[in-house]
Amino acid sequence: MAFVTEADAAKAVAEKVARSIHAKPDLVLALPTGRTPLPLYRELVRRHLSEGLSFKRVHTFNLDEFRGIGGDDPASFRAYMDRHLFSKVDLDPARIHFLDGLAENVKQECDRYEAELRQVGGLDLAIVGIGGNGHVAFNEPGPAVVPWTHLVKLDRQTRISNAPLFGDDPSRVPLEAFTMGLETILRAAEIALIATGSSKAEILAQALEAEITPKIPASLLRKHPRFSVYADEAACSKLESRALSVLI
Ligand code: GLP
Repeated sequence: MAFVTEADAAKAVAEKVARSIHAKPDLVLALPTGRTPLPLYRELVRRHLSEGLSFKRVHTFNLDEFRGIGGDDPASFRAYMDRHLFSKVDLDPARIHFLDGLAENVKQECDRYEAELRQVGGLDLAIVGIGGNGHVAFNEPGPAVVPWTHLVKLDRQTRISNAPLFGDDPSRVPLEAFTMGLETILRAAEIALIATGSSKAEILAQALEAEITPKIPASLLRKHPRFSVYADEAACSKLESRALSVLI
């Protein structure tokens, strides 16, 4: 679905989340970080405060976390989520699930996350963004995908784009991160990709219109039968197909 502005796209995703919670109050959500979902989180907070949207029974699983920093480090994705959503809605802290960047035993930490997901019945709705190189969560382009939650070495480009969290200094961005795998995400009942801004136009066109390949991890999302894209006009500007061209 294409929207004129990023605020319109965010409202549509928030509407989807609200409807999903209404249908299943113990919804299991996968959540992204970065610049893109900020308008969505603002809209969810607004709906909570002014329309009574309640997250009391919702489970959240964030897609990824840097390795080597704790959740109380302001640069962590956990701290980002606390700032933008968790501290502002009525989520039950026991239902907030996060990868621990300080976990020493990598395999044990990845297994724990997958086990917690299984315990709650798997993801109902995975909300994801797209990196400039086509990454989803922190699944970087490569010859093959790693299906389940794992540790990744971050691309140079990814570290540069995450530098704002680290005082604009890419050298301070951790070299590694934990991330859900593509299969973890593809097992969700439904996937919503948000892409906004002209900086995403080229990669969105490749992800949606070029071949499905692990070299563009986001292209693999097209294998999912309930995969939708919420993009603004700027992000759609390089798409050839008219599929996303009807602006709402
Ligand atoms: C980050 C995150 C992704 C996010 C992507 C895009 O590195 N790991 O989950 O979707 O990059 O970020 P932004 O929305 O800031 O462009």
